[in-house]
Amino acid sequence: MLEKQLSQAITFKDNIFHLRSGGSSLLMQVTKSGYLAHLYYGHILPEGSYRMEAFTPPIGSASFAPNTPKEDELLSLSTALLEYPTYGTGDFRPSAIEATGKDGTAAVDLRYRSHKILSGKPPIPGLPATYAAESEADTLEILMEDAHTGLLVTLCYTAFRDCPVITRSVRAENQGDAPVVLERIYSCCADFPTSDYDLVHLWGSWAMERTIERTPLGHGGRRISSTRGSSGHFHNPFAALLGKEAGEETGEAFGFSLVYSGSFSIETEVDFLGQTRLLCGLNPDGFGWTLAPGERFDTPETVMVYSDTGLGGMSRCFHKLYMNHLIRGPWRDRDRPILINNWEATYFEFDEQKLLDIARAAAPLGIDMLVMDDGWFGHRNDDHSSLGDWYVHKGKLPRGLGELSDQLHALGMKMGIWFEPEMISPDSDLYRAHPDWALQIPGREISPARWQYVLDMSRKDVQDYLFERLSSILNSAKIEYVKWDFNRNLTEVGSALLPPERQKEVGHRYMLGLYSLLERLLTAFPELLLEGCSGGGGRFDPGMLYYSPQIWTSDDTDPIERLMIQAGTSVVYPPSTMSAHVSASPNHQTGRVNSLHTRGIVAMGGSFGYELDISTLSDEEKEEIARQVKEYRACAGIIRNGDYYRLISTPDVYAWETAAADRSTVLVSCCVIHTRVQQTLIVKLRGLDENAWYHDPESGNIYSGGMLMHAGLNLSALGLRDRDAVMIRLEKI
Ligand code: DGJ
Repeated sequence: MLEKQLSQAITFKDNIFHLRSGGSSLLMQVTKSGYLAHLYYGHILPEGSYRMEAFTPPIGSASFAPNTPKEDELLSLSTALLEYPTYGTGDFRPSAIEATGKDGTAAVDLRYRSHKILSGKPPIPGLPATYAAESEADTLEILMEDAHTGLLVTLCYTAFRDCPVITRSVRAENQGDAPVVLERIYSCCADFPTSDYDLVHLWGSWAMERTIERTPLGHGGRRISSTRGSSGHFHNPFAALLGKEAGEETGEAFGFSLVYSGSFSIETEVDFLGQTRLLCGLNPDGFGWTLAPGERFDTPETVMVYSDTGLGGMSRCFHKLYMNHLIRGPWRDRDRPILINNWEATYFEFDEQKLLDIARAAAPLGIDMLVMDDGWFGHRNDDHSSLGDWYVHKGKLPRGLGELSDQLHALGMKMGIWFEPEMISPDSDLYRAHPDWALQIPGREISPARWQYVLDMSRKDVQDYLFERLSSILNSAKIEYVKWDFNRNLTEVGSALLPPERQKEVGHRYMLGLYSLLERLLTAFPELLLEGCSGGGGRFDPGMLYYSPQIWTSDDTDPIERLMIQAGTSVVYPPSTMSAHVSASPNHQTGRVNSLHTRGIVAMGGSFGYELDISTLSDEEKEEIARQVKEYRACAGIIRNGDYYRLISTPDVYAWETAAADRSTVLVSCCVIHTRVQQTLIVKLRGLDENAWYHDPESGNIYSGGMLMHAGLNLSALGLRDRDAVMIRLEKI
């Protein structure tokens, strides 16, 4: 990678770094005594337009605001806006780094030593991260040093040239003569001079993932986090600060998304001056990492997006970034197979014959692939056993996977298979042979969940066993797709192979082991399509998207519930990443009855498929499915690549739009959740060419782009009732 003293996107002048990225600017200043002060983050500023003194916060009382050295521009670390605040040297707010040296104290004092500006974006060893070619981004690496311990900390910033995205990660190296224990090491700190923001985040639970919540910031701290060893159903590793005036398509939004699938933390703190700090990265709870002299530690990456077109503009920026600079492999740019999964059709009760019955009914309707879900291995007839025993269940598949795959391919279908590699059932041959392979703390009982334990993914022998088993299964038959499930969280996080002083590393080492196995598998099977899953969408995060371009969005397949789950997911993640299936009615999770039409339209909001016993449906239903498959196939490219807009998002109606990148085709979908009698239903579209004309081939109507955007599309005449849905395709003339 070429080193540059000056690049277009990043400059260093008068001790001020200015990063420009798309329409955003980030400015910081090296002060006289070497602190890295934060100056500004937001809408792009002209070069040289910033003077720090004008913005230095007051200190109020000198007694309770420790002063920086006299010559410094900062008055006190306790009130200054900082790029990477440290613990124990005068800033009493939550810090980005805390580290214990040989004297047993935890203070860190980082001062500027040097910096480099590079074209492109170096990878982060062992971790998923966004990527960019040399012509697409510039990277600034600022080297800071704590002279007391010899801890070197490199702050890495990458500014993408064409979109308002700046990524942040941190590298720590011990250049001292004694071990240093990292007690906390966030990827990113963002200080703002005011608290005029609302916090937007995505909370949820099993079958109710990623519910959007917007609340004002208040004085003191707030934390969005997971200690589960996975990102989890309960909080997504994402938060945004929205200007008070900002809405779906207007105003400022600052989005923070962590490229990581393990325990995380996003902390906000409003101080007594009304300043806001946001920290994002690894969860410090239960974390600790010993850096022996010469060792290095890399944090995961935080992606920061600036938008001046509200939450919607921020979402579209994340979508483009994750589609083009995070998701990899051949499936990034391909329409995904329309699949049928047998889980809600059969649960554990299936055999080769039953799967083939489903496939024989599905193939003539145009469905591309059959996915065989949980229960095909060991002696698994319910969820009490066999995880880890990745050998074919001879009772269900006496002729083996090869025969099933041959039969499916003879029908013109591809084959997919379910695994839950990170787990081990106490009732399994694997556990009987290797009880020490489960995560555990000697002397404590392992807490089961769904009758299963978690494998110690930090161990190389465990990774090797899984690689051998998975590749042997994938080589035994033509298998094009793997659904990678994960159905419990981590407890008793301890590893038999690590010494006591390194046990707090296990949670993060687990993630490094998982990522390494995924990488190895995709290298060996580059054409494989991976679908992530964790009891539905319990690990729906950018870390997993680096390996699996689509993720099972939720175990709740009721289309009405899915409207809000998909809307919440779309705040950060592109529609193509959301696996969405038409399931049976009444719905298995809610008991709600929904038309096949509505189920189809909602599932077409993501990567489309079916999950019901298609072999028992009526001829009319099968004809409708054939029509849906055809319709989805015709729109799949637009859904995958288009610009996504949340148009109406109320308890009564959800409407969304996908516009092809060149604006030639627009898909508008609307579902009425709760009918309001005699109310008009007008949907104002977004992102069209105002002066162009758009044609609805179905109704024959022609509208101007301007009219569709400003007057709106009047759907009142359709008389949509409770749980009715419509999808309208408009073509530019
Ligand atoms: C949880 C997943 O979300 C479901 O789709 C299914 O694969 C089950 N696990 C199988 O145990």
